[in-house]
Amino acid sequence: MERLLVTNIGVLATPLGSSAQGGEAQGAVRMMKNAWVLIDKGAIIGVGNGRLPQNVDGIDLRTVETIDAQGSLVTPGLVDAHTHLIFGGWRQNELALKLRGVPYLDILAQGGGILSTVRATRAASQEELADKARLALDEMLSLGTTTCEAKSGYGLDTETELRQLRAIRALDQTHPIDLVPTFLGAHALPEAYKNDRAGYIRLLCGEMIPAAAAEGLAEFCDVFCETGVFTAEESRAILEAGKKYGLRPKIHADEIDPIGGSRLAGEIGAVSAEHLIVCPEEGITAMAAGGTAACLLPCTSFYLGAAYAPARRMVEAGVPVAMATDFNPGSCPCLNMQLVMSLGCLKYRLTPEEVLTAVTLNGAAAIGRADRTGSVESGKWGDLVIWEAEDLNYICYRLGGNLARTVIKKGVPYGKE
Ligand code: NIG
Ligand code: FE
Repeated sequence: MERLLVTNIGVLATPLGSSAQGGEAQGAVRMMKNAWVLIDKGAIIGVGNGRLPQNVDGIDLRTVETIDAQGSLVTPGLVDAHTHLIFGGWRQNELALKLRGVPYLDILAQGGGILSTVRATRAASQEELADKARLALDEMLSLGTTTCEAKSGYGLDTETELRQLRAIRALDQTHPIDLVPTFLGAHALPEAYKNDRAGYIRLLCGEMIPAAAAEGLAEFCDVFCETGVFTAEESRAILEAGKKYGLRPKIHADEIDPIGGSRLAGEIGAVSAEHLIVCPEEGITAMAAGGTAACLLPCTSFYLGAAYAPARRMVEAGVPVAMATDFNPGSCPCLNMQLVMSLGCLKYRLTPEEVLTAVTLNGAAAIGRADRTGSVESGKWGDLVIWEAEDLNYICYRLGGNLARTVIKKGVPYGKE
């Protein structure tokens, strides 16, 4: 958290501001040539270009530890605004089922899918869950992610949901990546409540949400609003209960079937609606009216062999678009935000500038961190990526690798070398 100066930046590409940007503003990225950034005590205190000044805020720049960006591209650290980071086991056995054409929701209905991860998660201790997730976080950091959201949702009972959230808190305190916790107890109906939907919703609203809030373990409440999971009306009840306890609403909406999730998101003023693969026009209108951001997950579309969300329509309607990985053991075992960026261009047809805003400032806004990260501006955390690239187009154009050379989190550099 000491001082760090990054000089000789070929292009500093960054959105600007402390709130989500929709419409034309989504693509309004500042490209500053021959730039430098000064970080002090974890926060950016100076950004400029051209000749380096001798002093900034009374700090003699000749005395500051310096990284030479060698004329490369620099962007804000990436914000992965949707992950299911904490889980036991993996589900590689489902690949064979997928190849035989068994649909995702059928695997779940047969007690597999999310429910098999629930069994593995219940069997794991908090330390085991955190140790496993730490490996994922290390990989994410090396790929340029400096802030991420993390959901519970593989416990489906009070004890295990809280254990997942405590693992998130422990990781937030010990790993360089900042973690933002979301309670997702409404991720599936647990096997014990198969014939008692109302009973599980009572447990969620009357016990699990109050317990998570009492320990300060979650900032957001999320629901999987989907055929065979939770209806729009059930989702509304759960999210309203979360609101009463200070948890801001998010919703998995229109991932497989359009059953009213995006409309509900707009109506209750959800911070974000996620997936939106089959989002109808009325859902987009409702989200625009409710100030709800769209958090799109193109790697999940790719992995499920599904369609891609109507991102361009959302931008046109003024809905701020964020993009994230959805890292989880079932529908998207991928944590590479650079792949998300490429698919954002190739499949959503967004421009590299719109994509950059989606994976930085709009992602930060979707998890309540736009005042602290998501752009390279004085006052924000010193979260940057120095790329093995000379411009923004290049990192969207290259596919599936890792072009992050040095990732800087709160002024501390983590590098390939
Ligand atoms: O966002 N859709 C619900 N939840 C995850 C998948 C979780 C899983 O399959 O384990 C998702 O895709
Ligand atoms: Fe998800």
